[in-house]
Amino acid sequence: MNVDIDSKGLQTAIDELALISEAPAPAVTRVLFGPEDLRARAWLKERAAAMGLKVREDAVGNIFMRWDGRDASAPPVATGSHTDAIPNAGRYDGVVGVLGGLEALAALQRSGFQPRRSLEVIMFTAEEPTRFGLGCLGSRLLAGALSLDRAAALRDAQGRSLDELRSVAGVHGDLASVRLGRQAYSAFVELHIEQGPLLERERLPIGVVEKIAGPSSYRVRLTGEGGHAGAVLMPERHDAGLAGAEIALAVERAAKNSGSPDTVGTTGVFRQEPNAVNSVPCAAMLEIDFRDTDHTARTAAWKKVEAAIAEICQRRGVRWELEIINSEAPAVCAPELVEAVAAVCASLSLPVKHMISRAYHDSLFMAQICPTTMIFIPCRGGVSHRPDEYSSPEEIATGASVLAHTLAKLAGSA
Ligand code: HGY
Ligand code: MN
Ligand code: MN
Repeated sequence: MNVDIDSKGLQTAIDELALISEAPAPAVTRVLFGPEDLRARAWLKERAAAMGLKVREDAVGNIFMRWDGRDASAPPVATGSHTDAIPNAGRYDGVVGVLGGLEALAALQRSGFQPRRSLEVIMFTAEEPTRFGLGCLGSRLLAGALSLDRAAALRDAQGRSLDELRSVAGVHGDLASVRLGRQAYSAFVELHIEQGPLLERERLPIGVVEKIAGPSSYRVRLTGEGGHAGAVLMPERHDAGLAGAEIALAVERAAKNSGSPDTVGTTGVFRQEPNAVNSVPCAAMLEIDFRDTDHTARTAAWKKVEAAIAEICQRRGVRWELEIINSEAPAVCAPELVEAVAAVCASLSLPVKHMISRAYHDSLFMAQICPTTMIFIPCRGGVSHRPDEYSSPEEIATGASVLAHTLAKLAGSA
């Protein structure tokens, strides 16, 4: 089968989508149901329809772009990723999987291939946690990994609910209808930039993912006493900001000393009030991201953070509230899909690295309803979530080609 990826056209599409952004180029920002996210969604749906794909959007805004196979009764093979982007991000995270997926289908169409199973490219709603502090909103609801009550209770920084934002975005329907069962797909394969340095360092064009790190995130609200920066002497202080600072260091210490090289801990959000130079912080709010591919190591290390929070706050006379935002086990990818990708790479004389994903992805939740794996391509310096995130047109085309061949293999020909 002669699958020819239109590398130039794919790069043009990536660059075109990157211009739909709240942030000036080269940064990309697209937050769930913001004006730019809505423009990007419309742009994508138009592009898919122009390819002759059937396009549908579910009640949370997941977009499904389908090429009907001969056997409409057989569960389809799916690929896809996300197009939302955290503030001041790059243009490749997620987008390579959505536009690379569309290009894989276009290349298969051009080659004359006729799929037995239908092929679907999915653009998942809100893989990034920016809007509600919870990532993978669309794939969680699709996999039944988020309760409808929890979804209804979500609020953004302005206090808006998912329902309010959905109706402003013109996305309607009962959220319960988003859930798809275990028979919905026969396989899911996501193309994504590595968001790490290994493929580039080892000069390898392709990675196939065997395990996806389990993410967890927490919100810590601290209440101290505050007061005048000149008048409150040091021994009388109950400084919520300093309690937060010690907690952030405790997160780092627990991750470093977990005994697992893959434990990572980040206090990515740290706000304090009243945030005035001459006022002792009376309150602080921390959001902490804590992950590992080893669930036991992550759990044990997090227990140390909880103990540190209690000790620090008691010693400083600061009250604390700890909220679990999310906590998922790592996902193990389907060995048969990993082997399928490896066999495609061998047939294309491409060396392939079997690896883990330290970032989470929608695949983490798709793995709960169907056999799943991921195809990684190198990204320069391993950099991601920054405007200088970069993968070359050749690296992206190679990834899309491996994806196209893998999808064809899994869908079977009519
Ligand atoms: O944070 C992550 O791992 C993903 O990029 N949202
Ligand atoms: Mn990301
Ligand atoms: Mn991503």
